[in-house]
Amino acid sequence: MSALLDDWDTPATVLRPPGAHPGAMAATAADATPAPDRHHAARTPPLPATATLAPVRASDKRIVNGRADINQLAPFKYPWAWEFFLNANRNHWTPLEISMAQDVHDYHHKLTPAERHVFENVLAYLTTSDILAMRNIGLAVMEKMSAPELQIYQARQVYEEALHTWTYQHCIETLGLDQQEIYNRYRVVPAINAKISLANRRLERIMRSDFDLADRDNLHEFALSYLFFGAIFEGCWFYNGFTPIFALQRRGLMKGTAEQLQYIMRDEVLHCAFGIRVVRTLIAEENLVLDPAAIKHLWDEAEAVEAGYARFLLPEPILGYSAEQHVGQFRFVANRRARQLALPEPFPGAENLLPWLDEQANLRKEKNFFETRVTEYQTGGALNWD
Ligand SMILES: [Fe+2]
Ligand SMILES: [Fe+2]
Repeated sequence: MSALLDDWDTPATVLRPPGAHPGAMAATAADATPAPDRHHAARTPPLPATATLAPVRASDKRIVNGRADINQLAPFKYPWAWEFFLNANRNHWTPLEISMAQDVHDYHHKLTPAERHVFENVLAYLTTSDILAMRNIGLAVMEKMSAPELQIYQARQVYEEALHTWTYQHCIETLGLDQQEIYNRYRVVPAINAKISLANRRLERIMRSDFDLADRDNLHEFALSYLFFGAIFEGCWFYNGFTPIFALQRRGLMKGTAEQLQYIMRDEVLHCAFGIRVVRTLIAEENLVLDPAAIKHLWDEAEAVEAGYARFLLPEPILGYSAEQHVGQFRFVANRRARQLALPEPFPGAENLLPWLDEQANLRKEKNFFETRVTEYQTGGALNWD
């Protein structure tokens, strides 16, 4: 795949290693404090000085366990987190803006039973996953961050996960699916349940409000759990998880649903990149050394449940898409996430079996998305398809 598409999934402004961003880690209170306005200063009486309220210093901020006043945004220590927030706000849409009319016809009149099986179960997995994602960011991660620029992006992420849930619900309602039955599948389908259970097991301890990050063992566990969440749950399972529906889209089927997922994918790419950036910064800041065997175990567990899920989704290939390709692509994307984490590739030699994925996952005009200028799709709306 071209460097361009690899770059799209690795937004350069947000994935530079800690310290490599010009000024990112070197920002100080002095850097971030604007020069005094002399005219304004002449008119405004000075605030009464207090010995107990020293100015917030960027150097006092930390990813976790920081000592700086968390109610004060600047000076930034992590200006890249603020950039994430600004970038996230360029991807505005609601599911109501995308036409689902053709999907209703496709679902009821064109999809084969095998294709309906794939479609419904992908949707069933995603509905549960996004609620889990919302709860994890809101309850486990955001409250532990001790710099407001990190929390502000995560507040946006919580909203986006809720929006994704609305999107799936909109698809389910529009297509006339049995809500109760779709939402309940993760409880009764072992292959879906295995993925959700693994995520719950990885995340449930850090979701506890009494999980003490002053404890070094807990800090290691938090880093590993956030790594799992950002790089695997969001960066592999979501990224790869939309693929079966993109495979239908490539054949002209369920294009409205696929377009909805493309908007979600944009959010998820940022969620993954942010999680990876936070984890790398946390590791550097706290001098953590993660256990290589524990990380390998993370990848292997994730691959095993993904393989079971793929075999359930695709006992036989649907046109142009097989379980083997799905798992192979998981390994390929997992290697990419490991590289972004500066970790060894877990699946050396994995090939890009679905070279169309990055392109299909992307929306048109993607080159502008991570740049700073306004783009024509800033406010959402239905996209044009060739
Ligand atoms: Fe999501
Ligand atoms: Fe997400």
